[in-house]
Amino acid sequence: MENSPNLNFYEDVDSWETLMFLYNAALKEINTKIEILNDEFQHVHHYTPIEHIKSRIKTPESIVKKLKRNGYEVNVKNMVKHVRDIAGVRIICSFTSDIYLIADMLTKQGDLKIISLKDYIKHPKDSGYQSYHMLVSVPIYLSGGFVDTKVEIQIRTVAQDFWASLEHKIYYKFEGNAPDYISRELQECSKIVEKLDARMLSLNKTIQEFSAKRAGKSLPSEA
Ligand code: GTP
Ligand code: MG
Repeated sequence: MENSPNLNFYEDVDSWETLMFLYNAALKEINTKIEILNDEFQHVHHYTPIEHIKSRIKTPESIVKKLKRNGYEVNVKNMVKHVRDIAGVRIICSFTSDIYLIADMLTKQGDLKIISLKDYIKHPKDSGYQSYHMLVSVPIYLSGGFVDTKVEIQIRTVAQDFWASLEHKIYYKFEGNAPDYISRELQECSKIVEKLDARMLSLNKTIQEFSAKRAGKSLPSEA
């Protein structure tokens, strides 16, 4: 029964390898979906909304750390239930409008289930963090039926990604207790990122309108 869900999969799975195989398969599925969307966009609109894609499987150390931090016993069942970002994909775009475009295109794919959406662009975190997060599940077809597997998708602009990588480095350097003046400086930079993204978007619109007008003028007359 290839098309029926294998509901017992997570109950029966007891090995780390089996689970990692599943999350790796989910990353492949999501990566392919995103690449196809980008290629189709290039084909139809001669424009690629995605700058680049990074994906990763969370390391065993950081899975264990997260479970312990949140007060859970370390076992496979708790991993599946409580660590939602074992498989993670990060999509980097040029413009904020591209972020919503991609999120919308993914939302419309029938086989993807949207578990949760967090818009840290409309509502940045106190730290200044901006990004669009989607937690989705994708069906992985195995011999005994399909298994819905979670993937965390983070979508952000180049500028938001630049900010997040530096903030992440600082967070680790100071083990989460950065001096106030550094946190304030980061919040300030985040506001600059927001302004830069808005201005770049508006500049891009102007360029597109200019190109459209020029193309219109140079069209051969019908007479
Ligand atoms: P965890 O932060 O992973 O425990 O999950 P959560 O429930 O808080 O979810 P959230 O959507 O807030 O964050 C998920 C992921 O987003 C994190 O693992 C980071 O990769 C990224 N992220 C969230 N907040 C920040 C932040 O303030 N700075 C940076 N650099 N990354 C962040
Ligand atoms: Mg968090």
